[in-house]
Amino acid sequence: MPNASGPDRIPALDDKRPVLSLLTSHWLGMLGVALVTTAGCSWLFVLPLHMRGRVDNPYIGLLAFIGIPMVFFLGLLLIPVGMYLGKRRIVRGFAVVPNRRAIFQRVALFIGIMTAINLVIGSQLTYRAVEQMDTNQFCGQSCHVMKPEFVSHLTGTHQKVACVDCHITPGASGWFAAKINGAHQLRLVAFNSFPRPLPSGLASNRLAPSAETCEQCHSRERSSGSKLRVITGFKDDQANTRIDTVLMMQVGGGKAAGIHSAHMGAGVEIRYAATDSTRQTIPWVEYHDAAKGQTRSYVTADAKPDAIGSLPHYTMQCADCHNRPTHTFDLPDKAVDKAMATGDIAASLPFAHKTGVAVLKASYTSDEEAAQKIPAAFEAFYREKYPEVAAKQADDIRRSGAALLAAWQRNVFPEFRVTWGTYPNNLGHSDSPGCFRCHDESHNTVAADGGAKKAISQDCGLCHETLAVEETKPAILKSLGLLPAK
Ligand code: HEC
Ligand code: HEC
Ligand code: HEC
Ligand code: HEC
Ligand code: HEC
Repeated sequence: MPNASGPDRIPALDDKRPVLSLLTSHWLGMLGVALVTTAGCSWLFVLPLHMRGRVDNPYIGLLAFIGIPMVFFLGLLLIPVGMYLGKRRIVRGFAVVPNRRAIFQRVALFIGIMTAINLVIGSQLTYRAVEQMDTNQFCGQSCHVMKPEFVSHLTGTHQKVACVDCHITPGASGWFAAKINGAHQLRLVAFNSFPRPLPSGLASNRLAPSAETCEQCHSRERSSGSKLRVITGFKDDQANTRIDTVLMMQVGGGKAAGIHSAHMGAGVEIRYAATDSTRQTIPWVEYHDAAKGQTRSYVTADAKPDAIGSLPHYTMQCADCHNRPTHTFDLPDKAVDKAMATGDIAASLPFAHKTGVAVLKASYTSDEEAAQKIPAAFEAFYREKYPEVAAKQADDIRRSGAALLAAWQRNVFPEFRVTWGTYPNNLGHSDSPGCFRCHDESHNTVAADGGAKKAISQDCGLCHETLAVEETKPAILKSLGLLPAK
């Protein structure tokens, strides 16, 4: 039995407990056994919590479904390594054991049973881990660097659409690419070297193609016809006079003429080249209509034909116009307009719009500073300029100050260097170039296309019938019965 130390005095195997001594023949193997059992037990403990829906906390989820499986598989890996490193002892041990065959059988049986059990536990763990990685919490909260995107996703049309439905190409290869990409991001986060702000999806070229995401839910063949769009704003005057812009958007689609058919209709393909990663400057556009057999190229006057070839080229897709279908950020003016339109900021407070915008535009270096100063600055304005209002409408002022802060918190994230206007919205042309990146009357057909020079049009009636622009009580809203009672 075990004797003293020394190169030739490696302890022999205990032939009464061969399996145990086999597994404990090296400390790495023992560590492996310890890790596997610990992880297995922790998981059995956490699973019921999960089934009862108690792991809403993303960090518990992370631990249960990413941390524990990692420990589990590390342990599983260490066992054979330990056995390999403890080989000498094992070999020696077998030499002195009388019935080697019996031991081999018992060891084989033990390993077989353990493997079967571990496989069951392991596959469950993996499955859960994968499932966990696809939740919105994992994407948006565990990885807190995506806070701006997570917060913006909480409101708006797609709040119930999972991050992965827009970001990951369905199927094994898309899933795999996403996990590789995720591992890369995890490294950046671990070393705190992720870019601030995060590059936009289009800029990093990491956005899954719209055909695989948006078009899984929205058919490009569907016609949306014309859509009425009412944009409510407020003036900077004392009364915060309400003004409305009313547009009839010519969306079209399918067989109906309009915006969708012009770029995404059957047989239509538009390609473009951009000089910057966010695709805001587009010197070259090519329109191809397979049905009509037409191809036209448009270039800007200052475009350098030689350089265009070396620029990245893209095929137009849904996300080129709808780049912010969920992570919609506003400029201060729009943010205040929206909060006043819903009544969250009281339009009855004198100069509420003007004051609100000014307070939002000031610079705050942290969430804490904003939380302290935004409501305070708004209240201070009324205390100093309108003490009577401050006394009579104290509740309105407090409520409006809170709404103002909420608007700031949805749009500005100093920690990640995301501020007003960091992420341009391409669907429009008022806050950023958007449609006018191409529709600017200075993208002209090239001579080779024959015929007279033609530009990509900026005709105001092309995309929307402009029924009213920032009018007070526009007649059209009156006719439609859409004016508020007061
Ligand atoms: C309805 C589709 C959709 C959903 C759902 C969605 N995203 Fe996005 N996301 C996009 C698009 C489109 C872009 C590209 C924006 C651009 O390039 O201008 C984007 C960009 C991003 C970016 C890059 C930074 C940026 O703002 O451009 C991050 C990070 C991101 N999304 C995270 C998330 C997270 C986290 C969730 C879930 C909480 C989520 N997304 C849900 C469509 C979606
Ligand atoms: C999982 C399904 C799903 C995916 C993926 C999806 N959407 Fe949607 N989308 C919806 C639903 C549901 C609505 C709401 C329809 C409604 O309420 O009228 C919607 C609404 C919209 C609207 C109208 C929104 C509004 O505010 O008026 C637009 C535009 C839109 N989606 C664009 C996109 C784009 C672009 C993508 C890809 C980046 C995308 N969607 C991905 C399901 C999806
Ligand atoms: C050339 C730019 C452009 C492209 C490309 C584009 N859209 Fe749109 N889409 C618009 C505009 C503009 C509107 C109207 C927005 C408004 O109501 O103000 C719109 C409206 C919509 C709506 C709301 C219509 C409704 O019936 O409620 C959906 C959904 C939508 N688009 C989905 C898509 C999908 C999916 C794709 C890709 C197949 C796509 N769009 C491609 C510009 C575009
Ligand atoms: C990448 C460049 C590009 C962008 C960005 C772009 N368009 Fe276009 N658009 C084109 C081209 C090219 C044509 C087709 C011109 C032709 O017929 O040769 C076109 C045609 C159209 C037409 C049909 C014009 C007609 O004569 O029938 C409409 C409507 C339109 N676009 C609306 C929009 C709207 C709305 C947006 C923004 C949401 C937008 N476009 C953004 C390139 C662009
Ligand atoms: C290439 C298409 C296109 C052309 C051309 C175009 N618009 Fe627009 N316009 C849009 C889109 C898209 C929106 C955004 C609608 C939305 O917010 O959903 C918009 C929004 C607007 C708005 C509302 C802005 C806001 O948010 O308050 C006004 C005002 C407007 N356009 C005026 C004009 C005028 C004036 C012209 C002529 C110079 C013009 N548009 C030409 C596509 C176009």
